[in-house]
Amino acid sequence: MTTLLENPLRVGLRQERAPEPLIMVIFGASGDLTQRKLVPAIYHLKRERRLPPEITVVGVARRDWSHDYFREQMREGIEQFSDGIGSEELWQDFSQGLFYCSGDMDNPESYQKLKAFLGELDGKRGTRGNRVFYLAVAPKFFPEAIRQLGGAGMVNDPIKTRLVIEKPFGRDLRSAQQLNRVVQQVCKEQQIYRIDHYLGKETVQNLLVFRFANAIFEPLWNRHYVDHVQITVAETVGVEDRAGYYETAGALRDMVQNHLMQLFCLTAMEPPNSLDADSMRTEKVKVLQSTHLADIHNLDVSAIRGQYSAGWMKGKQVPGYREEPGVNPNSTTPTYVAMKLLVDNWRWQGVPFYLRTGKRLPKKVSEIAIQFRDVPLLIFQSVAQQASPNVLAMRIQPNEGISLRFEAKMPGTELRTRTVDMDFRYGSAFGMATTDAYDRLLIDCMLGDQTLFTRSDEVEEAWRVVTPALSAWEAPSDPSLIPQYEAGTWEPTEAELLINRDGRRWRRL
Ligand code: BG6
Repeated sequence: MTTLLENPLRVGLRQERAPEPLIMVIFGASGDLTQRKLVPAIYHLKRERRLPPEITVVGVARRDWSHDYFREQMREGIEQFSDGIGSEELWQDFSQGLFYCSGDMDNPESYQKLKAFLGELDGKRGTRGNRVFYLAVAPKFFPEAIRQLGGAGMVNDPIKTRLVIEKPFGRDLRSAQQLNRVVQQVCKEQQIYRIDHYLGKETVQNLLVFRFANAIFEPLWNRHYVDHVQITVAETVGVEDRAGYYETAGALRDMVQNHLMQLFCLTAMEPPNSLDADSMRTEKVKVLQSTHLADIHNLDVSAIRGQYSAGWMKGKQVPGYREEPGVNPNSTTPTYVAMKLLVDNWRWQGVPFYLRTGKRLPKKVSEIAIQFRDVPLLIFQSVAQQASPNVLAMRIQPNEGISLRFEAKMPGTELRTRTVDMDFRYGSAFGMATTDAYDRLLIDCMLGDQTLFTRSDEVEEAWRVVTPALSAWEAPSDPSLIPQYEAGTWEPTEAELLINRDGRRWRRL
């Protein structure tokens, strides 16, 4: 029999160990991600006493900032984007470990200067040569930064040095393969942490616990009981001030290839042998290998793109995507994607997985909904309206939780049924806020746990799945042919058809 200690799901996904003393080197330190997410997450971990006292952060960027200016910027970030600095004493202690080193991504001298500075800090802060290099820069700089780090001999030690790479990892299958080659020339896979912040979300991890720590759902989790699965990641925001990046990415690269594919993998994968990084990642790769767009020759039935046009959001008029600052007025970049995937394996043969994501949709909501098959014979037909199928919905955000929809008898002398929900809410069940995804991912990386990071073959398989749509949409197309949806409404008509054609409907969330 498995003991508590042998079963990682029962002892908790998180191992409460403290990382070794180390320096986190953040490239792109003057950018948004560093100020809004990374440093606030490291500070929060410090507050929670998850970090050793020697923890040191070195920001690297082109701008000529002083250590003190960097510290001020980071303090502002913590105050504005997280729950504040708490005690002044804690901040003083933390800020003593914050440093800034200006440099150019493509200049070998900058790396030599950084290397010498890190060496000095090892002496002063006791960080023992342990480093995490975090590339929080625009993706086009990844290959150069990685080559330079390799050239300067800064990632030679596979035990003491790690490299974190933000998404998107590549622009398509070919560039992802190339980038994998670049990284593998300078590092070993065990040093590489390809980040997808969706994997750090508490409710995404809960999906694993839900599936594999409960006995009653797994027997139903297959083609015999499941009619179809819907995965939705809807956002209310538009492109914001990120047109420069978004115009070259679009929803397929920005959201589908990574975040939605990860949600899909965790829903569809087979149980891994353990929570060990490789067991998990191998199962994800296996399910991706069996997955394809419903019809790769006919995108009308398997992948639909859309773009938001002007509309109303919460009583305010908002511009269409093509009118946003920095966006080409004839842009064909999709802000919405819907897809139908099929999985050729014993568990899922014939069960469609419908995925959709978009900006400027009516609600911010992410969920995975498993819709079960209809009952074989509706014996209540004479008294009930059409019974709704059972749906198990896992809400990733907001109101994180799980709900099960089923039919119940309405009180009264007549036999009438109504659809009701049985709800579990994270907030009320545990009475505590969920942890930010970056807290979890950063500590895992510091601890050397790659479970929640994407392996090279996994990232390539995810690109392979979306390639037919990507290639078709990359070809020059008439902008007037891109389906439009008004800001503040759900999908374009073509995306409705994608699912209606199969006799099903998108969930209204
Ligand atoms: C990012 C995308 O990876 O995820 C953004 O680049 C998107 O475009 C964001 O808005 C959504 O993340 P979350 O955690 O708010 O759902």
